[in-house]
Amino acid sequence: EYKKPMGVDIDLETGVIPGAKKLVRRLSDLKGYFQDEEAYAELLKENPVVYEVYAVEQEAKDGDLNFATTVLHPGKVGKEFFFTKGHYHSKADRAEIYYGIKGRGGMLLQTPEGRAEWIEMRPGTVVYVPPYWAHRTVNTGDEPFVFLAVYPADAGHDYGSIAEKGFSKLVVEENGEVRVVDNPKWKE
Ligand code: 6PG
Ligand code: NI
Repeated sequence: EYKKPMGVDIDLETGVIPGAKKLVRRLSDLKGYFQDEEAYAELLKENPVVYEVYAVEQEAKDGDLNFATTVLHPGKVGKEFFFTKGHYHSKADRAEIYYGIKGRGGMLLQTPEGRAEWIEMRPGTVVYVPPYWAHRTVNTGDEPFVFLAVYPADAGHDYGSIAEKGFSKLVVEENGEVRVVDNPKWKE
């Protein structure tokens, strides 16, 4: 039996996909992810929403596609800009496409060996995430950073290694500028 095709309209102001499954990540869900533990503890009193995901997902089968928007709120923990957890795909060779809709930010990508790349994103930017690269988005602006992701339905999310070791680079604000710097805690 054929599946039914569909079209949905993303709200380009808010990033909401009507009818999608909503996931909310608050600061408390990101324990251990940020460098500055004091700043983390302080902001945890408010426990702000860091990002929301609106996902339209299919059964995890080879050949099918999922899509999701992410609304990544502006903010910092110490000098570090708010970011998504970041992950490899469980099927590590599954690639992904991102498309910038609103706001300013970028993507940190990393190989399993710790080679990192930073790609700036603004409305209209397409980012190709090749197979095997971990990926995390970062909001470097002062409004919500909204983007669409399209990924194989069987890709899955593997959060373990990033949760433990983080990325080899950090995205921070220094003297009012966005800087991508080495992570002092990074070890292979
Ligand atoms: C995916 C996409 C994307 C991502 C969200 C939230 O594979 O589903 O990369 O939708 O999941 O932007 O980021 P985290 O999954 O890293 O929390
Ligand atoms: Ni992904």
